[in-house]
Amino acid sequence: MKTALYEGPYYECETDALVLPFFEDDSLDDATLREVDRRLNGSLSSLVAAGELKGKPWETVLLHAPAGVKAQRLLWVGCGRRSECDLEVIRKFGGTAARYLRSRGAKKMALLAPGGTTSGRAAQAMEEGVLLGLFDVGSYKTEDKEEGLIEELVLVVNAGEAADAMQGVERGKITAKAVNFARNLVNEPSSVMTPTEMSERAREMSERFGLDVDILDEPQIKELGMGSFLGVARGSDEPARLIVVTYTPEKITTDETLAFVGKGITFDSGGISLKPSEGMEMMKYDMAGGAAVLGAMRAIAQLRPSVRVFGIVPATENLPSGRAQKPGDVVRSMSGKTIEVVNTDAEGRLILADGISYAKRLGATRIVDLATLTGACVVALGSVYAAILGNDQAMIDDLIAASCASGERLWQLPLHREYREQIKSEIADLKNIGGRKAGTITAAYFLQEFAETTSWVHLDIAGTAWLEEKRPYLSCGPTGMGVRTLIEYAFRSAGGR
Ligand code: BES
Ligand code: ZN
Ligand code: ZN
Repeated sequence: MKTALYEGPYYECETDALVLPFFEDDSLDDATLREVDRRLNGSLSSLVAAGELKGKPWETVLLHAPAGVKAQRLLWVGCGRRSECDLEVIRKFGGTAARYLRSRGAKKMALLAPGGTTSGRAAQAMEEGVLLGLFDVGSYKTEDKEEGLIEELVLVVNAGEAADAMQGVERGKITAKAVNFARNLVNEPSSVMTPTEMSERAREMSERFGLDVDILDEPQIKELGMGSFLGVARGSDEPARLIVVTYTPEKITTDETLAFVGKGITFDSGGISLKPSEGMEMMKYDMAGGAAVLGAMRAIAQLRPSVRVFGIVPATENLPSGRAQKPGDVVRSMSGKTIEVVNTDAEGRLILADGISYAKRLGATRIVDLATLTGACVVALGSVYAAILGNDQAMIDDLIAASCASGERLWQLPLHREYREQIKSEIADLKNIGGRKAGTITAAYFLQEFAETTSWVHLDIAGTAWLEEKRPYLSCGPTGMGVRTLIEYAFRSAGGR
């Protein structure tokens, strides 16, 4: 899909469908809206009078052959209250319009930004909303393919806005494509998205966008002493991989080096502590943290913030077999700490422990890990917020601020020392489960033991990486949760755009 700007009055724009926003608290007494209604030959006031257009969030009304405009169709999209119109509303407006019109065969559409001005940020949000909204989860369907129907997006801009808006469009395109790249990795069945395949996709992406990439195989992983990671990989016939992607900027404006570490379990059966079969098919998405890291690296390579960033993804399956690790086994991690594996289904923290140690070895001063780590997080926050925990409050605050700007949501949980009691082991330094209470917190506490004094933040995206019900710009399925926040955080770490 290509995007163009139209610098002229909306009613002159020739397109398959012109999309206009309408707010709940809009009144036809307002001079601007009266003028719009007059131009449309009174069709706006009659829709409002008939109660068909109320401005409720994401309501849609389509008019064919509308009077007063050159577009063939006119789509009204309800946007809620005018005072609450922020970038997320603009993203949802774009997503709603794109998905509605695609299902009705439109090839070209033109959007007029809610709020009436198309700043760079607003243009970026619209571009993101449209491209994220058009993501197609049915990649294995042989009929009814939805992809590629909308060929052209036009943003209607005011005089003087074009340069800024075009920059926003570029950023939005890069960001949304990175998110959709991650969603595609997550959407693949585990028979396709093996650790080897994931590393090959990381390699292709890195070569295409000019990142350094290093794929470590099992002998190399063993050489590093990653007994915790390899313990998880033992049960599988698919070899494990440690994916390391490096972004080096032309100029560096900060002493900090970032590392993004993502959980790359390409299928989580639970291992010997086998999961129930109902819902197990979902566990192909247990590499969503790793996919988000690769997606963020893709955008970072194109947008080029002036900070060094490592992307680290330990990738393996978690399967039972005659060789699989068993409850009660003790493994030695790269850090030297020993771990009693009480439950083989708590495998994410085992592979991330070594991933975090490796980030420190590379010289990272700020580590962010992302993982579909606990069912407890799904229970606590559902699919609305991801959990954030860490050992550096300033860094947590920065990530929350980045998430607000990017339209993702993070909610902090406490990481008090007293939770340490729950992961004490009799036989080893730690055990890998902390009992029924505070499952998301004890999992994070376990990871903190490996971050030690390095600034570190953990995002538990178990509830937000996959949606069971669609949203205005997200279909059911993989969301790419984390990609946009990581990109934004990299820029903030480098001191802004
Ligand atoms: N991948 C799961 C967590 C998960 C559950 C993600 C549901 C998405 C949806 C993780 O590896 C796991 O199995 N965690 C266990 C830990 C428990 C054994 C301490 C869990 O949360 O039940
Ligand atoms: Zn598990
Ligand atoms: Zn898992």
